[in-house]
Amino acid sequence: MINYRCPSCYGPLKRDDTTYRCAQNHSFDIARKGYVNLLLAHQMGSKQPGDNKMMIAARREFLSAGAYQPLADKLVQLCREHKLQRLLDAGCGEGYYATNIANAGVTVAGLDISKEGIQAACRRSKSIAWCIASVADLPYLDGTFDSVLSVFCHLDEAEFTRVLQPGGLVVFVGPGENHLPNLRAALYSQVRPYRSAKQQDYFSELSLVSQETLSFDLQLNSPEQIANLLKMTPHYWSTSPAQQAPLLAMKQLHDTVDMSIQVYRKG
Ligand SMILES: C[S@@+](CC[C@H](N)C(=O)[O-])C[C@H]1O[C@@H](n2cnc3c(N)ncnc32)[C@H](O)[C@@H]1O
Ligand SMILES: [Zn+2]
Repeated sequence: MINYRCPSCYGPLKRDDTTYRCAQNHSFDIARKGYVNLLLAHQMGSKQPGDNKMMIAARREFLSAGAYQPLADKLVQLCREHKLQRLLDAGCGEGYYATNIANAGVTVAGLDISKEGIQAACRRSKSIAWCIASVADLPYLDGTFDSVLSVFCHLDEAEFTRVLQPGGLVVFVGPGENHLPNLRAALYSQVRPYRSAKQQDYFSELSLVSQETLSFDLQLNSPEQIANLLKMTPHYWSTSPAQQAPLLAMKQLHDTVDMSIQVYRKG
């Protein structure tokens, strides 16, 4: 059971067969696919917030092929190491990492602002509490989780801290300095190292527990896989079709995945 709160009045939501409802009678239907939409109209920001259908489909196909399995394995290992039992995947996309973690026995909630993402996530797992909402306004009661996971997504320190129990952990994954250099070399005339995420850039209320790098080789053997990878990255939006053409004409891409994994604790 996940302790949702009403996005309108912040009171607890109670569930019946088809609906979540608060004491003030604000109600939210549970979709047939199994998720609940707790994103209010004024929180949407745009008509179709978050990743669109094309980006979600590319991510789903790419991740399902196992290309980023080492990260999924590492996250499961971290859950075991820290004995995590109730995790929120904040910005879960189409639910690949949340599903891997739930399959390891952790109770998982998955949240994303993209309706397409959450609908795809429902197909991955029936045992996860999937919900459409924003990381900037989490629809859970205070102290609901012992951990919040953020993989390549926005962070909201105040909200992450609020939904964590005392001593709870934030696991934050972002690009390391040498993430996908060959993909970037095919797109840009100059490839700069990524500025690796630093603690003080994000958190003041949480203290750093550990910081490590996960690096592994990536071998893509079809133009479709290469196109899927491009569509998963911000480079898809920051380059022109002419810039993308040489990359999309490649039949193979050998590259390095370099991720930074940081764990923080709420005091
Ligand atoms: C780069 S994707 C990462 C998805 C997933 N964590 C993964 O690694 O497969 C970023 C995700 O953040 C979601 N997103 C963007 N803004 C958000 C917000 N304000 N609240 C929740 N999710 C958001 C997008 O819809 C997208 O699914
Ligand atoms: Zn309410």
